[in-house]
Amino acid sequence: MLKQPDRKYRAFAPIGLKDRTWPDAVLTQAPIWLSTDLRDGNQALVEPMDIARKMRMFEQLVAIGFKEIEVGFPSASQVEFDFVRKLIEEDRIPDDVTIQVLTQARDHLITRTFESLQGAPRAIVHLYNAVAPVMRKVVLGMSEDEIVELATTHAEMFKDCAAKQPLTQWTFQYSPEMFSGTDLAFSKRVVDAVTEVWGATPQNQCIINLPSTVEHSTPNIFADMIEWMHRNLARRDGIVLSVHPHNDRGTGTAAGEFALMAGADRIEGCLFGNGERTGNLDLVNVALNLYTQGVSPELDFSRIDDIRATVEHCNQIPVHPRHPYVGDLVYTSFSGSHQDAIKKAFSARKEGDMWDMPYLPIDPKDVGRSYEAVIRVNSQSGKGGMAYLLESEYGIEMPRRLQMEFMQTVQRVMDVAGKELSAADLYALFEREYGLKTVHALQHRVLEEQGEGAGASIVLRGDLQWDGETCHIEGRGNGPIDAFIHALVDATGHAVRVIDYHQHAIGAGADAQAVAYLELRVDESQTLFGVGIDADTISASLKAIVSGLERARGQGARSAQSVAEPA
Ligand code: KIV
Ligand code: ZN
Repeated sequence: MLKQPDRKYRAFAPIGLKDRTWPDAVLTQAPIWLSTDLRDGNQALVEPMDIARKMRMFEQLVAIGFKEIEVGFPSASQVEFDFVRKLIEEDRIPDDVTIQVLTQARDHLITRTFESLQGAPRAIVHLYNAVAPVMRKVVLGMSEDEIVELATTHAEMFKDCAAKQPLTQWTFQYSPEMFSGTDLAFSKRVVDAVTEVWGATPQNQCIINLPSTVEHSTPNIFADMIEWMHRNLARRDGIVLSVHPHNDRGTGTAAGEFALMAGADRIEGCLFGNGERTGNLDLVNVALNLYTQGVSPELDFSRIDDIRATVEHCNQIPVHPRHPYVGDLVYTSFSGSHQDAIKKAFSARKEGDMWDMPYLPIDPKDVGRSYEAVIRVNSQSGKGGMAYLLESEYGIEMPRRLQMEFMQTVQRVMDVAGKELSAADLYALFEREYGLKTVHALQHRVLEEQGEGAGASIVLRGDLQWDGETCHIEGRGNGPIDAFIHALVDATGHAVRVIDYHQHAIGAGADAQAVAYLELRVDESQTLFGVGIDADTISASLKAIVSGLERARGQGARSAQSVAEPA
């Protein structure tokens, strides 16, 4: 790279629109959308769509709700021509949808374009020619007057061709190609000349489409250019003002949004930003950005993953996992602090509340995504994510201190495995760590009750599996847990004290299970948790005590090692 890039590249010139109004504008309604997936998007594909793929894309665009769809460049190839014919001849265009086709300002191409549209009920015919100085001087070798002449003679030709097919309802569109690289006075001159030829009035509107064929400037400058045109074009009330941003600087979405704020009525782009080089404006971004501001885009992305699958099939280009709104990873938080905040916000949220969710600008469910991917656990994650997954997938509501304890096991496994743990992996680890499968139900009976109130006591007798053997136990206490702890001292030689106790149900009805989390002090030397699950609440607590005792004897440490490769 150059040390002095100013010797090779020049900065774009500001417009100097001092009384600009667009920065304070607020978008409160959807623009007119034009999908150019089948034209500009298609032109940019390594392998352009065949007719079957084009049809699939067309049907997808209709299903999303696009009312204006640029279906091709019929004079460019036989496939393009045939596709337009197929749409018309097979009556594939819904009554509320208008197809658009593109043509260069050249006689034989215009003739062929109108030929492709024979029998169409409605159509937008889109004329373009380059206007930028670099194109005028270097590529076309034409003066400004000659460019105006080129545009107006072909605009005239449009009228003649349309008059020969009077059964079609025609709309004309003109694009001064490379508008973004052209001085405004000249763009206005060409556009005014075209709208004069077409006799643009409120009753006979045409579309003027201003492309950033190449995005040269920061989006505020593009917005100034659009506001200047919006204010200065002749016959503005006879014009639907459209923009067509590309994305060379990665700011296509911003440029499109600012342009709408600056007075554009209509916007052209492609799904997920396909298109020449870095792409056309991403229609999904702009639409869902509006949606997250409470404005209906009048396009339906409620099955965004199906739409992505269709687009990937038709374009044969994958959508990036971090692509806004649709990427595989865009609703996922790995970071512990993010997970913690999301978990708290989900718990605080009530049905019908406004969406106010940290790190999630849109409710994934609105675009057909589940909450499953919202929190995933990797080595960057904290206990919040792990606890969230176990709660949301398995109904395990761990007390905070248990989360901290179990997270150490998770972290150890993660350090060895070095990869993400799914909810199923975490549950398998939890089961093994706390012996949920290996600690057996204690056959017990509460035998006696003596006394009343504080003096009440019971006797618990049962059979305990301990060290591979069944041993008979008996203990007295003020409740089953107390009695069991007393019995354990005799049976195992270990003294256990309950520090904290939590219990809740998982599921409901006949299948409900109780889960007990007991924080224990064992032999006055170790503090740790035991967990038990059972249909019977007392059994769940007794299992939790055995679970903790076994962990204290080192079984927990061994099982943690044995699950270093998570299930
Ligand atoms: O980017 C562009 O300038 C175009 C025109 C044909 C509208 O695609
Ligand atoms: Zn384009």
